[in-house]
Amino acid sequence: MNHCEGCNGCKIDEKLEKIAKKYKNVEGGIISALHEVQDTYGYISSTAQKYLSKELNVPMSEIYGIITFYSRFSLVPKGKYNIQVCMGTACYVKGSEKVLNRFKEKLGIKEGETTSDGKFSIESVRCIGACGLAPAIVINEEVYGKMDEKKVDELIEKYSKM
Ligand code: FES
Repeated sequence: MNHCEGCNGCKIDEKLEKIAKKYKNVEGGIISALHEVQDTYGYISSTAQKYLSKELNVPMSEIYGIITFYSRFSLVPKGKYNIQVCMGTACYVKGSEKVLNRFKEKLGIKEGETTSDGKFSIESVRCIGACGLAPAIVINEEVYGKMDEKKVDELIEKYSKM
């Protein structure tokens, strides 16, 4: 166990130590390291950013730039239910923007954010391979098609009770 500099003594766990070690002397290793952190924790915490910055000798500004450039990376933990609204062409022409806006309005969050109770997060994604069901969304692994605003309300109600 290590402590990173500059944080409040929060512990760096072994998984993070391993990731840093693996990519320490690899050219461009920071991107692979960030992918692994994202896959392992579901987001990239400020502790992880500071630790990787120090261990891989990459400035914090560069790490932040990479995280914000790639939509795959998240700075906050995803909600228990992660809602992915497809914005691919087929879904878009059938009104996915309205669906996305309804989720945002009802949950009071923007894309890439998580509700304060940790229950829901929203993101927009490219084609999820369910174009026949456009406009389609995915909540965790579950696909829902032919979405409209009414269905958004129903799904929020259903998942709120789960
Ligand atoms: S465009 Fe939405 S599922 Fe293909």
